[in-house]
Parts: sequence; structure tokens; C-alpha cells
Amino acid sequence: MSEQRSKADSTSGSGARGTTQGNQQGFSTKAVHAGYEPDSLTGAVNVPIYASSTFAQDGVGGMRSGFEYARTGNPTRRPLEANLAAIESGTYGRAFSSGMAATDALLRASLRPGDHLVIPNDAYGGTFRLIDKVFTQWGIEYSVAAVSDIDAVRDAIRPNTKLVWVETPTNPLLNVGDIAALAEVAHEKNTKLVVDNTFASP
Ligand SMILES: Cc1ncc(COP(=O)(O)O)c(C=O)c1O
Repeated sequence: MSEQRSKADSTSGSGARGTTQGNQQGFSTKAVHAGYEPDSLTGAVNVPIYASSTFAQDGVGGMRSGFEYARTGNPTRRPLEANLAAIESGTYGRAFSSGMAATDALLRASLRPGDHLVIPNDAYGGTFRLIDKVFTQWGIEYSVAAVSDIDAVRDAIRPNTKLVWVETPTNPLLNVGDIAALAEVAHEKNTKLVVDNTFASP
């Protein structure tokens, strides 16, 4: 057990966090290796699939490598999140079992009643319905703009805008946005840019 603990501690830190080692590696190397070292107990070179929902603790609050319950964190998902953080040059990664779960979690974490967001005028139907039918009932406002029209996106941003949400290419119309230009517009207005990719990775 102590070997397992030290392996997890040394390779993935707080779990979803990227590794500093990964910063010196190229994209392909990171894609294969970042976030995981061969298991110190068994030498398994591929991430084992842990089926346990609950993890034993060494006394109350004495979690081993931060694992307590699989929904909040598990040793299979953690390397994936760390890998995604590394290849996206991010600090953290979070993995969800569906796109809409990620969408819902991000919106709820970022928005409060009275906030506003900008979405594509051809946003994915599930995203549009979640915002238009559910979030508006909780005091969230939204505007639409074409992801390919930087001026329209800039004009849609209001003082209470917290997120500029884009897809590129959009689903289903495949409109393309310039992520760097959209980020510049969002950041100059003190909002965050979210890129939801079904068809491509930035
Ligand atoms: C742009 C976009 N966002 C979100 C989703 C939802 O993903 P999921 O079906 O995994 O919930 C889709 C699904 O096609 C999508 O195209």
C-alpha cells in the first residue's frame, strides 16, 4: 500500500493537476505518457481500471492519495485528467462521462443569478435548451452571436457577461471561430472564453 501511495503522490499530485515534467516534453510524448507512471506495485504500463466505488482510509480523514469515493476521484480518471491538463498546457483537467455533464457543471460553477453569457447563434441543441429552458429560470441571461463574427461577439458582451461560450466547428452547421481572436475579445472585456469541441481539439 505504501508503494501505491508513493506512486500516486509522485506522479499526479492533487490528481487532475498537470506535471512539471510534462512541460519539457513534446505534444506526442505528453499524449502518451503525461499523468501516469508505470504502476509501482505491478509495473502495469497502462492505467489499470479501478472498479472500486469506495476506498479504505487510514483512520477518519486519513485518505490514501486523496481517494475516498469514486465519484469525487478515482485512480483511473485521475491520470486521464492529468494527461488532458498536460496536453492542453492547463493547470487542471476534469473528465466527465458526457459532454452535457461537463457543460452543466461548468455553467453552474461559473454563473450566478444576474449573470449573462454569449452563446453561438447555432449552438448545439442540448446546450441551447439547457441554457434557454433551465438556466434562464435561475436568473441567467444569454445573447447569441455567430462564432465566425468577432464584431458580433464583441457587441453581444455586456457588463454582466461572465462567459463567452463557443463551439468550433459548431454542431451541426460547422461554422468556424478564431479561438485566439475570440479569447482576445473575451479577455479584453474581462470575461472567460469557453470552447466546446465536438469536432476538433484546439
Ligand atoms: C458541441 C456539443 N456539445 C455538447 C454535446 C453533448 O455531448 P454528450 O452527448 O456527450 O452529452 C454535443 C453532442 O453531440 C455537442 O456536439
